Amino acid sequence: MAEIDFSKRSFNYYPTNAIVVAKFVDGKWSRPEVTGDFNFSLHCFAGIFHYAPSCFEGLKAYRGADGRVRMFRPDENAKRMESSARYLDMAYPSEELFIEACTLAVQANWEHVPSFESGATLYLRPILIGINPQLGINSSKDVLFAVMVSAVGTYSGAKILVPGTAVMSRNYDRAATFGSGGYKLGANYAQSLHAYNLAHKLGYRELLFLDTATHTRVEEFGSSNFFGIKDGCYITPDSPSVLPSITNKSLRRIAEEFGLKVERRAIPVEELGSFEEVNSCGTAVVITPICRIDDKPALESDTVTRQFRYPEVCGKYSEKLYHRLVGIQRGIEEDTYGWCVFVNEPN
Ligand code: PLP
Ligand code: COI
Repeated sequence: MAEIDFSKRSFNYYPTNAIVVAKFVDGKWSRPEVTGDFNFSLHCFAGIFHYAPSCFEGLKAYRGADGRVRMFRPDENAKRMESSARYLDMAYPSEELFIEACTLAVQANWEHVPSFESGATLYLRPILIGINPQLGINSSKDVLFAVMVSAVGTYSGAKILVPGTAVMSRNYDRAATFGSGGYKLGANYAQSLHAYNLAHKLGYRELLFLDTATHTRVEEFGSSNFFGIKDGCYITPDSPSVLPSITNKSLRRIAEEFGLKVERRAIPVEELGSFEEVNSCGTAVVITPICRIDDKPALESDTVTRQFRYPEVCGKYSEKLYHRLVGIQRGIEEDTYGWCVFVNEPN
């Protein structure tokens, strides 16, 4: 087979060989099955088509400098899927099943794991959806768990660490105060789609959501968490309606290693004016610097009330954090935390 050129990839769906599927039906999990059939045949009354019993995950597999393939912290994704499924009152795969399915998905698509040199990665998308036919509003008792993959480039399409702009969302909320924001539910993304489209049409790379109750505190971006740096301190919001990002959790650990103080606390919107570096962080975006955040009364409005500006190049702490994180993921730096899980080449 001809070698695939991964170097020009964006963050998108690209065809691969196979997906992995397991079902929880009548109280029992099936064994994970590798299949080349990318279509699901589901009953039209399956819960997923009506009440959105759906959660998902995102993680990446990397071909390291040493040629070995590793996944980054899949155990954390398994735990977060469990927490999302518990919120939906649905069955969930054990950590063992989750990691087995991810491993099988990588092995079944081995030639789609991009070369180290390309800088691209294999993105894994595990999903968990309710499938039994139902009409009343109930949680699903039968679920489908699948892991699919796509070999991707940077999320923004720009080169790594090139800053982009963001706009605050004052007239669309992502997650209610006592709602589902802290879980990775499909429904949370449905809620932000329209606002996201507006922001993109206006040329912004990111959309910054505020707390729903008061619109006075920074929550997170539509695709990723927020962190800022000032006075030798890594600061990120602490809120139950923010998704607990595995990237952010890892960066907090690395920040401590670099001697930065780490604060998880409320961030008033006014404080945006005092950060030296601002970034979005997540599996898809990795670390993406933000060079400007516009505050508008409404996304549809022509008025920009104020602008928070940051350097047009990636800040020095953010760049250091990026290189240490990606260095571990890509096998350039020693994985002193034991975060990577190796995947053996299939026989
Ligand atoms: N916040 C949102 C809304 C996200 O979609 C993501 C992506 O998964 C994140 C944060 C980052 O989480 P993680 O670092 O676990 O990918
Ligand atoms: C991820 O970073 O894995 C996400 O799920 C975010 C989404 C924008 C792809």
